[in-house]
Amino acid sequence: MSQSRTVAVVVGSLRKDSVSRKVAKALEVLTPNLKFEFLEIGGLSHFNQDDEAAPPAPWVEFRNQVKAADAVLFVTPEYNRSVPGVLKNALDVGSRPYGSSAWNGKPGAVVSVSPGAIGGFGANHHLRQSLVFLNVPVLSQEAYVGAAFALFDDQGKLVNAATTEFLRSYGKAFTDWIELILRPAAKHQAG
Ligand code: FNR
Repeated sequence: MSQSRTVAVVVGSLRKDSVSRKVAKALEVLTPNLKFEFLEIGGLSHFNQDDEAAPPAPWVEFRNQVKAADAVLFVTPEYNRSVPGVLKNALDVGSRPYGSSAWNGKPGAVVSVSPGAIGGFGANHHLRQSLVFLNVPVLSQEAYVGAAFALFDDQGKLVNAATTEFLRSYGKAFTDWIELILRPAAKHQAG
């Protein structure tokens, strides 16, 4: 299957055994028509506007990676009913310099992940709030992956059939969303 669109994937956890990353990897396998490129956010120093005069190399590289992608996917845990600081920092780094945000106009999707029952609802919607400001058209379809530790076996393989089907359909919806946003304006007008 051809992979015509690239997706910059940002995982909101730095943890080695992150269940959010496992969900992102499972979604990658279940969405073979999209090319996932996992971006590393752990090496981005805390955003400091003073550093904009001579931006650190990791900031520049990260911005370029986001700009090069057709779309953006966030898969994140919830920390204290919001997004982890590392993810917010990555959003902030990518949003500058003023007027040339790397996020601008990229079709996006948000998946929140939690071992708990609420599936990271708070993180999901705090993230969506920032993405509205950043002019990222986000797939409306919601993805809350709860009770996440029970979904994977010891090798990190997704073993829950319902979640497998959900992620497959979510990947398909995201693919369709990307095409809807990126297809030429003339086609929009022609219907
Ligand atoms: C958490 N955790 C958590 N879980 C949740 O559902 N809602 C929450 O608000 C929080 N808050 C929170 C704060 C902090 C500082 C930590 C370290 C953890 C638990 C969290 O979901 C759990 O650690 C996940 O395993 C984190 O995801 P990764 O790292 O496995 O992807």
